[in-house]
Amino acid sequence: MCAITSTQLRERFLEFFRERGHAILPSASLVPENDPTVLFTAAGMQPLVPYLLGQPHPQGKRLANVQKCLRTGDIDEVGDAFHLTFFEMLGNWSLGDYFKKEAIEMSFEFLTSDRWLSLPAEKLAVTCFAGDADAPRDTESARIWERLGIPKDRMFFFGKSANWWGPPGKAGPCGPDTEIFFDTGRGPASTRPNDDSGRFVEIWNDVFMEYEKRSDGTFAPLQQKNVDTGMGLERAVAVLCGHTNVYETDVFAPLMELIRGSVPRADERHLRIAADHLRAAVFVLSDPHEIVPSNVEQGYVLRRLIRRALRSLRLQGAEEHHLLDIGNRFVDELARIYGEAYPEIFERKSQAETQLWGELQKYIVIEQRAGKFIEQVRGRGDTRISGAEAFAIYQESGIHPDLLRSLGASQDVTVDFKGFEEEFQKHQQVSRAGMTQRFAGGLTDHSERTVRMHTATHLLHEALRRILGPHVEQKGSNITPERLRFDFSHPRKLSTEEIRKVEDLVNKEIRRDLPVTRAVMTPEEAKAAGALGFFEEKYGDQVSVYTVGDFSKEICGGPHVPRTGVIGRFHITKEEGLAQGIRRIRAVVE
Ligand code: ALA
Repeated sequence: MCAITSTQLRERFLEFFRERGHAILPSASLVPENDPTVLFTAAGMQPLVPYLLGQPHPQGKRLANVQKCLRTGDIDEVGDAFHLTFFEMLGNWSLGDYFKKEAIEMSFEFLTSDRWLSLPAEKLAVTCFAGDADAPRDTESARIWERLGIPKDRMFFFGKSANWWGPPGKAGPCGPDTEIFFDTGRGPASTRPNDDSGRFVEIWNDVFMEYEKRSDGTFAPLQQKNVDTGMGLERAVAVLCGHTNVYETDVFAPLMELIRGSVPRADERHLRIAADHLRAAVFVLSDPHEIVPSNVEQGYVLRRLIRRALRSLRLQGAEEHHLLDIGNRFVDELARIYGEAYPEIFERKSQAETQLWGELQKYIVIEQRAGKFIEQVRGRGDTRISGAEAFAIYQESGIHPDLLRSLGASQDVTVDFKGFEEEFQKHQQVSRAGMTQRFAGGLTDHSERTVRMHTATHLLHEALRRILGPHVEQKGSNITPERLRFDFSHPRKLSTEEIRKVEDLVNKEIRRDLPVTRAVMTPEEAKAAGALGFFEEKYGDQVSVYTVGDFSKEICGGPHVPRTGVIGRFHITKEEGLAQGIRRIRAVVE
């Protein structure tokens, strides 16, 4: 019987910090709200960046929570004992309140006190920042650890690569950290806790965020000294229960059992990859941002997670019916495990199932195509797929090099993954530039008809968001005197009823003869004012924002009509799918 369940650990952690004056925050969404520089929330501090930089937090200076996190940087390590893509992070923060002494003492007390987790102090080892040209050696943390009884031979110093955390993007709050490891007593004796021997497991990280990294790469002291800590829930439960890996914990064991019992072969690593990736995928699918599998941004990561999971299952002999069966039961099981802590899993269960199912159907076809492609490569006497070729086939058929690598392995065919990544990055830059251009100048001319059509496009954008939901985002637009074309994110075909509602709403706003006004402001002000825009793009210092009455507000280069009354009658002529999760509408004004 295990010492603690994941539910108990969440509760105890929050109770400990509540007792010590911390306000408890809910987990923020997995998709960051205010940070276009990262795709997913990868740490509990991410949603708190403005407050770490000095803005007062409405809940005070001491905060704690359990945050859903997703990291794909170590995706190739997943399947070992402790690496995960999705995980829950227990964290506490001081925003210019307590600093090193209290933070370390609280971590130590929670881990070792009999009232809390009762881990033997002699099993702990710690690392501290060694110092460099940007910041001094952290002797203060070391002295605190020493006073708490951590002997010198359990204390290690490292540079930035190991003992510095942040910023999550290119610039922002960061600082030296002290990491706490648990000696499992298993595996070879190790000379330092943060090697790959597997003997030690990192369980908690206390970051002292007293610097800001500027975009020019230099570091400046922040106006307040903050604490940012993070403890991985799954790892902590594994350590506390004496498990050898996270897949034995109560959040994973039922998932592993489900998969193990459903496929003909049972290579542990592949089962773990499937369990980890599918779990992460369902959490992404349950996010209120309604991310769906696609070839861009979050949707790309989601698709990759699902396909990698399916590939692992196929390698264990799973046929299509096994995959379908696992997909359905997996979502049920996750809802059972997490329904209480994260009700969104429960609430969005049927959407998650539908999306998983759709991806599964696509995957079967893609895998066949990929197999044929590998045969062709072998047929021409080759064993290496270049980055350019891998990217071309990805563009053409959606076959990711992950799959080519996996399918090619048995026939000694390899893929230039690095070359693929380079091509991919290049392409993303080009398509981003394309998007900016489309956004800034989606008009082919400034004729009177085109300008009317342009203002109608703003009304359409807002109407789609109101009728279909705020997940609708502009993906492109092109306007000629004859018609307007508008691409946007939405997972399904629009029903006739939805199309009619959108048309009616646009026409209603036209009839209200709303004034169209332009104001100049910074992108931050525009965002704060609720203007729609491609905030992941780099705007200049000032942008123009067009407001249509009380209905719509968008960053836009113009031009627009002065009042909506002159637009004429708006009519949608066509609605179609452009790519997975992207729809296209054509419309005219008469
Ligand atoms: N932000 C720190 C981490 O993720 C606590 O490790």
